[in-house]
Amino acid sequence: MAVITGAGGGIGRAACLRLASEGASIVAVDLDETALSETAELVFGAGAAVHSVIADVGDSSQVQQYVDEAVASFGGIDLLFNNAGIMGQVAPLEELDEHVFDDLFRINIKSVWLGMRCVKSAMEARGGGAIINTASAAGLTATPTLFGYGASKHAVVGMTKTAAVEMAHLNIRVNCICPGIVETSMIRKIEDQSVSIGVVVSADEFKNSYNQRAPLGRYVRPTEVAALLAFLGSDEASMITGESSVIDGGFLHS
Ligand SMILES: NC(=O)c1ccc[n+]([C@@H]2O[C@H](COP(=O)([O-])OP(=O)(O)OC[C@H]3O[C@@H](n4cnc5c(N)ncnc54)[C@H](O)[C@@H]3O)[C@@H](O)[C@H]2O)c1
Repeated sequence: MAVITGAGGGIGRAACLRLASEGASIVAVDLDETALSETAELVFGAGAAVHSVIADVGDSSQVQQYVDEAVASFGGIDLLFNNAGIMGQVAPLEELDEHVFDDLFRINIKSVWLGMRCVKSAMEARGGGAIINTASAAGLTATPTLFGYGASKHAVVGMTKTAAVEMAHLNIRVNCICPGIVETSMIRKIEDQSVSIGVVVSADEFKNSYNQRAPLGRYVRPTEVAALLAFLGSDEASMITGESSVIDGGFLHS
């Protein structure tokens, strides 16, 4: 039984469908009601049991609510994919809006802590589980014009390490995924805002310059992130915890 936040978005939807194809029941969580119900229909259409929860992952009572509903619906939780997030604003650090900075820390960091905190006892009752947090390649390197986003993803990498050590005795493994650029609506916003502030002249220029630098020459597909998630959540990864798994076509090495 898997709980997936940001289930209405590109990576979250692919994750729901991948885990559903492997027989998991899904609790899909998102703030965007329309996108969430589209995902739920797709998962249901694929033959899996699915329960949707509209929740703000940065709000502790709403996080507790999705955990309680997951346990009530399916009797327990085996996997949490702490994946919902925002990119904030493309801007040099001195122009980053203070409210956007606060939102980034609430939605990208606090949500990950709350999810891990609230799911812990449910996983303990089940004899263990797997938590996978979505960090980013931006959590491992400098990200000019994405100052707050990069900071928030560095925090996810750090929280993953400490949570892994704190929860190991409960047989709860905690890892994070660090994607490079993935083909979702989030990257469309980054491309568009990069054009707006004059970093590039067009979205095509943004994409082409990334692809020329990336050794494998293209953006990551959401299904490829979902495949990594499925591995990290499976017994095949039984001795992997506290790790940051990069999936970026070699970009960080270029
Ligand atoms: N797309 C990329 O290039 C990329 C790269 C690295 C990491 N990531 C990370 O992957 C994760 C998923 O992003 P995506 O690319 O699928 O983007 P997306 O915009 O398609 O999906 C994000 C989802 O999170 C939901 N969400 C936002 N704020 C929320 C809140 N407060 N409560 C509940 N749900 C909320 C949105 O409604 C949306 O459905 C994010 O954490 C993002 O930072 C994305």
